[in-house]
Amino acid sequence: MNKLCFATNNAHKIEEVAFALDGAFELLSLAEIGCTDELPETTGTIPGNSRQKARYVFDHFQIDCFADDSGLEVDALNGEPGVDTAFYSGSRDHAKNIAFLLQKLAGITNRTARFRSVITLVQNGQEYQFEGVVEGRIATESHGTGGFGYDPIFIPEGYEQTFGELSMEVKNGMSHRGRAVRGLVDYLAG
Ligand code: IMP
Repeated sequence: MNKLCFATNNAHKIEEVAFALDGAFELLSLAEIGCTDELPETTGTIPGNSRQKARYVFDHFQIDCFADDSGLEVDALNGEPGVDTAFYSGSRDHAKNIAFLLQKLAGITNRTARFRSVITLVQNGQEYQFEGVVEGRIATESHGTGGFGYDPIFIPEGYEQTFGELSMEVKNGMSHRGRAVRGLVDYLAG
């Protein structure tokens, strides 16, 4: 069976893609290909970082590979936190990042935002990108305990509840990552 590396050690993400691929590829994590390096993420953009990580693995480990990178873009903040989403407050702590963002948006009525996810596949040295976006708005306070990251303050378009309140099935059906993964899987299924 064709081997394909997913440049992550996040078991949840691997399980999600493996399920969507339905056994068509043997999916390997970074640990499983023997990669313990910190992957570079220095381009300053989400598509750039996604490409940089996939290229790094392909070039150093000679295996077909894909990498994902995601972020939250808030219109009133000119697209921030964007590529800095994971460390917006200076820490990885989700509660601190949420508090930091809510404070930046205090008193601002335009709260439109989107999650963007870009997957880059490097296959036989060729690059392919798949993007997924979910539009929505930032709530004025946290609601719900589901999901992770900024889920408790992100209300997807067409809903009144945050990702933190909606079920996993509902979120995955419309999420940025879900959409990017479907683009990848449709391509691989050919
Ligand atoms: P990553 O590139 O997928 O690791 O995402 C970068 C950061 O974006 C994460 O650390 C989270 O803070 C945020 N993020 C990405 N996807 C989601 C999501 O589905 N819900 C909430 N936050 C997310």
